[in-house]
Parts: sequence; C-alpha cells; structure tokens
Amino acid sequence: MCGIFAYSWRRKDADSILLHGLERLEYRGYDSAGITVGNDAHVVETFKAVGKVSALVKEVSKKRPSDAFYQFGIAHTRWATHGGVTVENTHPHSDVENRLFLVHNGIVENHSDLAERLSSAGVSFYGQTDSEVVAKLIGKETAARLRTGSPDSLLEGVEAVLPRLEGAYALVIMHADLPGELIGVKYGSPLVFGRDTKTGDSFFASDVQALAGYADQVTFLDDGDLVRIKPDGTYEIRSEGFLVSRPFERVETEHLKTEKGNFEHFMLKEIFEQPKIMKAVFQGRVDFEHLALNAAAFQDLRDIDIERVKFIACWTSYHAGWAGAYAFREYAGMSATVEIASEFLNSPVRVDPKILYVFVSQSGETADAIEPLKFIKEHGGKTFGIVNVVGSSISRLTDFGLFTRAGTEVGVASTKAFTAQLAVVTLLALFYAIKRGEDFRKYRSALNDLAKLPEVLQSVLSSSGEIAEVAKELAKRPHLFFLWRGSMLPIAAEAALKFKEITYLHAQSMPLGELKHGTLALIEESCPSVVFLPDDALFAQNQSSISEIQARWGKVLAISAKPVQNADWNLVLPSAPGLTFAFAATVAGQLLAYHAALELGREIDRPRNLAKSVTVK
Ligand code: AGP
Ligand code: GLU
Repeated sequence: MCGIFAYSWRRKDADSILLHGLERLEYRGYDSAGITVGNDAHVVETFKAVGKVSALVKEVSKKRPSDAFYQFGIAHTRWATHGGVTVENTHPHSDVENRLFLVHNGIVENHSDLAERLSSAGVSFYGQTDSEVVAKLIGKETAARLRTGSPDSLLEGVEAVLPRLEGAYALVIMHADLPGELIGVKYGSPLVFGRDTKTGDSFFASDVQALAGYADQVTFLDDGDLVRIKPDGTYEIRSEGFLVSRPFERVETEHLKTEKGNFEHFMLKEIFEQPKIMKAVFQGRVDFEHLALNAAAFQDLRDIDIERVKFIACWTSYHAGWAGAYAFREYAGMSATVEIASEFLNSPVRVDPKILYVFVSQSGETADAIEPLKFIKEHGGKTFGIVNVVGSSISRLTDFGLFTRAGTEVGVASTKAFTAQLAVVTLLALFYAIKRGEDFRKYRSALNDLAKLPEVLQSVLSSSGEIAEVAKELAKRPHLFFLWRGSMLPIAAEAALKFKEITYLHAQSMPLGELKHGTLALIEESCPSVVFLPDDALFAQNQSSISEIQARWGKVLAISAKPVQNADWNLVLPSAPGLTFAFAATVAGQLLAYHAALELGREIDRPRNLAKSVTVK
C-alpha cells in the first residue's frame, strides 16, 4: 500500500514537488504522511503529520523556515501494517545518527529478528515499524563506509542490507551527507523511475500517474532492480548487483486527468463515466456490425489449447471473475471457476497446462494476486491479465491480456473499473464461444446487448435522484441483505461490498434460495433486503421469495427489469434487456451505496482503514 514519491535535484522547491506528488498518491494510503528534504548545504528537514496529506501541507507551511531551499527529498503516505498510526511511525524513517532517511512500501517479514540483533548491539528504536529497522540497518552500514571515504557508501550500505531482508518492499533512501543522491529499490512492491529529459531531474513514484507533468520518460522497475541517482544527475540501474539497461516509455498526459470536475466526489464522477467507458472497452475490439471480435489478445489465444478457465482475483475483481466464470459456462460451454487470490496457495495446487489462469485486477499491483501469478508461471501455467493500470506488475507478468481501459480510478471503492472488467470478461467468454463453435444465436444476442450498454447505463444514471431517496431509507438500518438468484450472484456480492466499504453498515449478499436455510432468522423490520430481479425465468420465484421476507416483517427494495408489485420500494430499470441488466443493476448498486454514504456523512473517496492499491499480503 502507501504512496512513495521522491525527487532529485535541480529545483529549489523540492518540498512543494513532493507534497504535490503525495496528493496524487494519497488514494493509495492515507493514515499519515511525511517528507524529508535536503540541500547541497547538507541541511535536512523532516516533516510528518498524522492524517491526510493536507495535514502535512499545513505542518510544512507552519514549520518550514521562510528562507529554506530544498533540492531533493523523499515522501510517503502511509497505510500502516506494523505499528500504530502515530507521528513516530510515520515515514520517512531515520538511522541512529539522523542522517540517513528512507521511505518504504510493503512488509519486511523478518523485522523482529533484525531488530533484536540491532537492539543487542545497543540500537534503540523510536517507533514500531518494520521500516525503521531497515533504516537503522542501512544507516549503520552506510555510516561505516562513509568513514572509509568510499564514494559509493550509500550504494554499498544498501547492497549490504538487501540480502538480509525477507518480504516485499519498495524503498527510496537518501543521506544528508550525500546531497542529490537517491537510491530506489524494488522487490515485490511497485516502484516507477522517471526522468525529465529536458532538465535531467529524476523521480521515483509508486505509480506512473503521480509522475505526469514531472517526468517525460518512465521505466517500470522489475523485482530486484536498484536505481542509483547520482549528484551529477546521471543514474545507473542494477539488477542483482549487475548494471543493466531498462527501456523507458513516454508518460501520457492522459494520466493527469484525475480532477473531480463538477462532481462532489471522485466516486460519483467515476460512476457517471461508465457509459463512456463501455464505448472505450469495445473500441477496436468489437465490430458490432459484423458481430466480430478483433482484439490482438484474441489472436494470441487462437493457437493456445485450453479446456478450462480459472479466474483469480481479490474482492471487486474477484466478483468480476466470478461473473466471468458464469459467462464462460453460459456462452462458451466451458468449465470455469473463480478463486480468491489470497487463498489460492493455502491448499495444494496442481498447475494444469489445459487451464487458462485469468488474473483480474484494477491496480495490477495487488500482492495477494501477484503471488499466485508467479507460482503459476513458475509451474508452466498459461496466464492472462485483465488489468486497468498499464505498466503495472500483473499486466507485465501475465502471458496475454486485455486492458480494461477504465482510465485512472481514484475513488477507493472501485466502480468504473468493475463494469469495465465485467465487459472484458464477457468479451473473453464470447471469444471462446466462437472459437469453440458454440450456439451462435446466444453469441449474437449477447453482442447486441453489449452494444446497448452506453445507453442503458446512461438511463440508470438518470435515476440517481430516485435511488438517493431509497438510499436515505436504507442508511437508517444497521444491516441489510443483497439477494439474487442465477448467474449474476456476483453482482449482488459487489453491491453488498460497495455498501459496506463506504457506508460502514453491515451488508451481506447471498443466494435468495439460501435465505430460508438459516439466515432468515435475522430478518426483521430493521433489516431490509435488496433483491435483484432480471426479466428472466426466475422472476416469479424471486417475487415469492420477497413475500417470504415480508411475512417476517422484512422490507424489500426490488431492483428489477419490470415492475414488482409486492416490493416495499421498487427501482425499475426498464431499458436493460438480457445481459445488460447485470451492468445496469451494478450501477444502481453503486449509486445506492454512494447516496447512503453521503446521507451518513462518510469519507466517500477514502473510506476508513482502506487503501486503493493493496500491495501487502
Ligand atoms: C474495491 O472496491 C475494493 N476496494 C477492493 O476490494 C479491490 O477490488 C481489491 O483490493 C482488488 O484490487 P485490484 O483490482 O486492484 O487487484
Ligand atoms: N510496513 C510499513 C509500515 O507499516 C509500510 C507500510 C506501507 O506500505 O505504507 O509503516
């Protein structure tokens, strides 16, 4: 988790650059934030604040001497894993001499052993983080080398410590006595290295979007890479100790487009972008006129022989994979399953060459998904990525893939990325339907439905006001259920997750038919249910289940494709035929969660305890 940003070296306002970088990265973690800045007069200052980056901005403006200038520095916005959310535990962390400073993303698993050894050598710690232990270690090694006058003291100090660290980390390190020098290391957590080729300035960031406008070229570092920025503005990249060269890519200004515009929250803006995003997903990939699928990824898959599909992902992306598994069974007649990524390796796994392992991820950096992905690759499995962030680890590690093209998603609760994932998993299933010569009528009707998606989603958005009214009612109750039958159970699960994430109310999803097998005991007036009813063969059965809930005084919101007479509240999505209902109901579920959270005055874009990109296990 967390956001790292670092800068070296020509400008005199490094503190402003770092604070701006942190603001862009704040969605990754927002427990606390800090910067350490330095200049060529060997002056260093550290500023830290608990809470949002805005608190840090205030702290800097309060404490920064008015005549100070800073030419380089490191910055961090934290999502705590070890040690409470306190000023002491806020990064950057320092060595005993307060000369070496470091920011860290990830977890160093053997930190207790390392700390014990340092303690017995007389080192004491001011906080509880694993990261501080690494700062103390590298500081010790570097100080010893500085005493010998080695020009490579910091590099040697870092290289002496890295083999002792277990776990995952991205680190950026600076030293007060080595102005302008920065060392960035990536092992298991994301780190991007950027250059402004006009000025020779260098940057590190946890994601590329933070670098737009600063760096015109970036390289996505691989695990084991170490980048050293030297005071003369040159840099070198090492992998496992050897100098290597890495390809650089241009930074697209598209990454900059993360403004809220007229919307009160990023989440609402992102919900409203969905009709446009559906068009982007299909652009150049689907020829609706000739009912053909054209993406390059499909060409790659043509010669690959597989019999089954396994989706692997974490929560929202898991729900998309779950929907994908249904779509494969429905359209391609193939056996398809979904697995929770964080659980995948917790029981024996046999990697099967006849399975296509599909990893779904918005960020492409989720550690819980990267671990099984690496395992499957090591064991010769075929991997496919459905990823939103271009250049991210999962997009680079997988053998084949399709980007979701949802654009930057800032709201921590995923919305547009999920609908884009739904669209992509459906396309993948439809590709296999054709490849395997399955029922063409189903294929044609599915593609015809997909073509209507921008319009259908637009019409759901126009009922936002109506949805807000019901949301206010639901926000009064502490618990609620999201219930559905049939292939789109994952949509109910996603609606419940969205509700939990941003309202902090308890929402649970389950198959309608299972309610009577136990959970019905919870139904009472204060525990309403949201039931999804597409216009399908299960409509009448679903209506009966509503009556069963009401007989226990439970109130029901029906989100349906046609009017439901016996519902307490009914949100009818009339223009959502066939396949499109799942997408329409998804958007309705997002708006329901949004308006309920608004009613409750929650931090919608940055819900408590969460972070956008979960790069720790
Ligand atoms: C989405 O609303 C969640 N915050 C979260 O469940 C997320 O979907 C999950 O962490 C997976 O992330 P990814 O798609 O970036 O891999
Ligand atoms: N493990 C470190 C900590 O708890 C880093 C967490 C992060 O990635 O933000 O401070």
